[in-house]
Order: sequence, then structure tokens, then C-alpha cells
Amino acid sequence: MQAQELLLALADGGTVSGAQLAERAGITRAAIWKQVESLRARGVPVQSQGTAGYRLPWPLQLLDAAAIKAALPAKVRKQVGLLELHWEIDSTSSEIQRRAANLPDLSIVLAETQSAGRGRRGRTWLSPPGLNIYLSCLKRFDAGFAALSGLSLAVGVIVMRTLEALGIDGAGLKWPNDVLSGDGKLAGILVELSGEYQGPCAAIIGVGLNVRLTSALREQAGQPVNDLASLAAGDAPDRNRVASALIGALAEGLIQFEREGFAAFVGEYAQHDLLLGKALRVQGAADTHGIGAGVDARGALLLETHDGLRAIDSADVSVRRT
Ligand code: BTN
Repeated sequence: MQAQELLLALADGGTVSGAQLAERAGITRAAIWKQVESLRARGVPVQSQGTAGYRLPWPLQLLDAAAIKAALPAKVRKQVGLLELHWEIDSTSSEIQRRAANLPDLSIVLAETQSAGRGRRGRTWLSPPGLNIYLSCLKRFDAGFAALSGLSLAVGVIVMRTLEALGIDGAGLKWPNDVLSGDGKLAGILVELSGEYQGPCAAIIGVGLNVRLTSALREQAGQPVNDLASLAAGDAPDRNRVASALIGALAEGLIQFEREGFAAFVGEYAQHDLLLGKALRVQGAADTHGIGAGVDARGALLLETHDGLRAIDSADVSVRRT
């Protein structure tokens, strides 16, 4: 029995005995125990119930490519180039990078778990199986990098549309594209570009969306984090539904971005902008202080300073606590 099959056997939240699992898989109880330890090492909180066996603290759904496809609107199903689900991969974005030349536009790669999930600024992205969503999407563009300004902010809006479609409130956007709830990160977005400055280019858009975090994972994250289960009063939405909603929003949103650019997303960004009207500290080449005044049509952060309105293209921004 592999870790994946064990997770499936425990997925409904019921207690299953080691003996039952061993018999089902035709292996020893010691081998089952090894797989339990392997799931625990990956961040899945498998509980021991003494002689009764093992259980998860809540039921979960393993990702299912057929269920995800079936839940996509027919139009989106046609738009999506390829939809591939892996049990384990180093990084869904790295996988697309390796195969980009041979993949159709709007190809999607999902994984239950990533062994080397990548975050921004060289950080790792914790990717335990069975709990969250790790997804990357390839989008080609014809008009060069200049037409892509604001793309990563647009993806933030796309994630907000996904949450709206799932009926989940309580999240917002922190420039440039962190999706936060309270102070905690709910989703991370990594956009990687390749190609020509003025010609054909491609974006690999990686999204990690926290559906259910454990307290151990919250501690390991190295930054404040939050999950959809907390926003839905402990009742985590079905992960296949979350994945389909995200894929649907990405397909439609990226096609909209290709046609209309970031300007089409500015209004919606403003509705979710957590920095608007807040006293901010902007750490770039030099420290700047000011009041958040939204974003411009290129996706730059607008900052009301003593010297007037400034547009910031790249910096670390934090809200000043006064
Ligand atoms: C961030 O640091 O905020 C960005 C995190 C992006 C994580 C996602 S998970 C799917 C895709 N594969 C990766 O290795 N990273 C992105």
C-alpha cells in the first residue's frame, strides 16, 4: 500500500484498523505503519486510535481529474488545453516549464503534493497531500512582455473570483498579489515569464490555495497563513470543486486579460484592495511612507506621499501599525 492508497482508505474520516489495512493491501502491519509515518512526515495529521487503528481528524476528498473536468462548464472544458493530475511532483510550475514547448495553451497541471513547491523570493511552498490545491497553468501571449504588466495582480483578482464562486467571503488582496484573510496568507501566486520582449511569450501561473491547514503546518509556514476551512466555519469546501472553480476562473480570466489587459481588472482589484487608505511602509531602494491609493492600469501601487502621488512598480509593502 502506497501513501496515496492509505490516504484514500482514511479519506472518509472513519477509523480503520492497521490489521484491516494490512489485509486489504496484502502487506504487514509494520509496512502500513511505515506509510502512516510517511503521510505524517508530509504533514497529514493521521491520528492513532490505539488498537482501533488510524483516522484523520476530518474527512477529505482526494483530487480526481475526472470529477474536476466534469464540474467545468462546457466552454471552459474546450478552452483548457490539457488537464493533468499527479500524486506527487517536484513543482507543478517546474513540470510545465520542462514541457512548455509541447503543451497546448491553457494547459493545467495539478498535484496532490509537491516535493519542492516554490514560492516567491526563493521560498519553499509547503505542499502536504490531501489538504490544499497546487496548480499551474500555461498561458501564451503574442504581444510581448510589455502587454503583461499587471498579470500577476489580475491573477489575484481571478483567485478572488474563485472564492466568490465558492461562496467564501472574508479575503482580500495585498499588493501585488497576496490573497489574505486577516493577516494570514490564503493563497500564493507565482507568475514566471519566458519568451521575447516584443514577440511571443508565455506565462506559467502557479497558484497554491490553502484549503485546510493543520496547526503544525501553520507553525512551519514561516509566515501568517489562513485556510478556506476557517473562512467556512471549519467546513472545508470539496477540493475538487475548489480546483474546478479555480480552473474555470483562470481560463476565463486569462483570456479576458489577453484581450483587454489589466485595465479590465482595475475596478475589481479596488474592491478587494486591503491596502487602500492604509498607512503603508514601502521598502524598495529606499523606504517610503504614504497612504495606499489603489493601483494604476499597469498594476503599479499608488502611494499618496508628502511629495504627491507616487507609482511603485516593485517593493515590499507592509501596513504601518500606529
Ligand atoms: C508565493 O510565495 O506567494 C507564491 C506561492 C506559489 C505556490 C504555487 S503551488 C503551485 C505552483 N507550484 C509551485 O512550485 N509554486 C506554485
